[in-house]
Amino acid sequence: MYVVLLGPPGAGKGTQAQAISQELKLAHISSGDIFRENLKKETELGKLAKGYMDRGELVPDDVTISMIEERLSRPDCAEGALLDGFPRTPAQAEALSVMLAKQGKQIDVVPLITVPAEVLVERLSGRWTCPTCGYVYHSVFNPPKQTGVCDTDGAALYQREDDKPETVKNRIRVYESQTAPLIEYYQKRNLLAEVDGTLPIEHVTQSLLEVIKKVG
Ligand code: AP5
Ligand code: ZN
Repeated sequence: MYVVLLGPPGAGKGTQAQAISQELKLAHISSGDIFRENLKKETELGKLAKGYMDRGELVPDDVTISMIEERLSRPDCAEGALLDGFPRTPAQAEALSVMLAKQGKQIDVVPLITVPAEVLVERLSGRWTCPTCGYVYHSVFNPPKQTGVCDTDGAALYQREDDKPETVKNRIRVYESQTAPLIEYYQKRNLLAEVDGTLPIEHVTQSLLEVIKKVG
C-alpha cells in the first residue's frame, strides 16, 4: 500500500513515519532526509538543495520529483511505501499519481497530522536528531535517557540548521501557501483522513495505524 503523510513542519511526520513503517513493514521515504543525506555527502543535488533548505523554501519541483521517482523505482518500494514530506505542491502530487499509475498502483490513504502553529515552533526548537540512526528526540516531549546522546547507539545528537526560529516561521508560511492546497486536493479524491497531532506520540501512532488499516 502507498501512504502519504501530510502535515506542517514539526507535526510529527518523521517521528510517526519511523514507527509506522516498522509496524507495517513499509519503505519509509522522507524527501527531507534524502536531501540532508546529499547535503552531508556534498553531492551536486545536495549543493543545489542547500540554499533552498537554509532559507526554508522548497527545492524546485523538477529536481524533487525526479529524486522521488528514482527512489520509488527501487525494489523495496514494489509492494508499497510511506511517503513523508512528498508531495508538497500540487505539481508534485500530480507527478506522484502519474508515476504510480504507470506501474498500475495508486495512493491508498493520505493521513493529515494537524497541530496548531504555536505548538510547531515549540516542537522544532526542542528537536534533537541522531546523525547515526536518524531517530528524532525532543528535549521535553521525547528526551533521550542521557542529554544529547542517542539511546540506541550513543551518538552525539544535533539540531537541524533549518530549525532556527526565523527559518521555522518561513517554513510554516511556505507550508500554508504551497502545501496546504493539497488538503483539498486529496479531500476531493476521498483519500484524506485527519488525525489530531497534539496528543502524545504513541496516541498519534495508534490513530494513524487505525486510519491506515481501515483501507489496507
Ligand atoms: P523536511 O525534512 O521534510 O521538514 P518538514 O516537513 O519541515 O518536517 P520536519 O522534519 O521539520 O517535521 P516533522 O513533521 O517530520 O516532525 P518531527 O517528527 O521531526 O524538509 C526540510 C526541507 O527540505 C524543506 O524545508 C525543503 O527545503 C526541503 N524539502 C523536503 N521535501 C521537499 C519537497 N517535497 N519539495 C521541495 N522541497 C522539499 O517532530 C518534530 C519534533 O516534535 C521532534 O522533536 C519530535 O520529538 C516532537 N514530536 C513529534 N510528535 C510529537 C507529539 N505528538 N507530542 C510532542 N512532541 C512531538
Ligand atoms: Zn541513534
